[in-house]
Amino acid sequence: MYSLDVAAAQAMLTTTLLGRPLHYEAQVDSTQDLVRVAADAGAPEGLAVVAGQQLAGRGRAGRSWWSPPAGGLYLSLLLRPTLPGTHVPWITMCLALGTAEAVEHICGLRPDLKWPNDLELRGRKLAGILAEGTFSGERLSHVVAGLGLNANVDFSSQPDLQTIATSLQQELGYTVDPSALLVAILERTEEHYLALRRGVSPVPAWSARLVTLNRAVEAHLPGGQTISGTACGVLDDGALRIRLDDGHEEIIRAVDVTLRHEH
Ligand code: BTN
Repeated sequence: MYSLDVAAAQAMLTTTLLGRPLHYEAQVDSTQDLVRVAADAGAPEGLAVVAGQQLAGRGRAGRSWWSPPAGGLYLSLLLRPTLPGTHVPWITMCLALGTAEAVEHICGLRPDLKWPNDLELRGRKLAGILAEGTFSGERLSHVVAGLGLNANVDFSSQPDLQTIATSLQQELGYTVDPSALLVAILERTEEHYLALRRGVSPVPAWSARLVTLNRAVEAHLPGGQTISGTACGVLDDGALRIRLDDGHEEIIRAVDVTLRHEH
């Protein structure tokens, strides 16, 4: 069984920004909170915190993120992009692309991207991203970008997750090296992030891998309403265009979307 070897990861890392510095904590409530506190204290862009276990891992929309020891990769990054406040999803896209490419490089598996923030294998969740922006007035001052990746997680004790989630170990039948994965994630994500800093939008690369597009979807809106239609495009800020069954178009942001089974 591999465990995360941060010294080995540091020795392998060739990035100039991400993971500089790279900190490891054996057990935390949430790596997001550690990085947010460090950001408020003036920590540099690129700071990465990884944890061996989280006691209160957070997911999107107020959900929790099950973070058992020696199974998942739990990572938060501090970024200070010059972006309009509406474009925090661009950070999610960079991290999603970087993670998908790293998984492909290290494991030979090609994860699908699912709108707005998931990586999937065979329709099951492999990883989730939580990008939390902090504003100073209208201005985006920094983003804490969190990644939970089911590297070697064993879901057999979790009946609720077993049918909807998967891990690299489960798919491959062997344990993957989390240190090599972490390095690849930081390196690939850095390429996308440096391009973003030069003004390159991640939207085309991200939407090209989005399994949600041109599929029949249901979106569950916050008020309890559900809309059905076909996902037909992504706007510049990451919002999803859905052509409704009655022909109208709706633009949705950060709600839950499920793929409908086509008959
Ligand atoms: C989601 O799919 O809802 C997003 C999950 C994000 C989980 C990661 S694990 C590392 C970081 N720390 C947290 O508490 N959450 C993110």
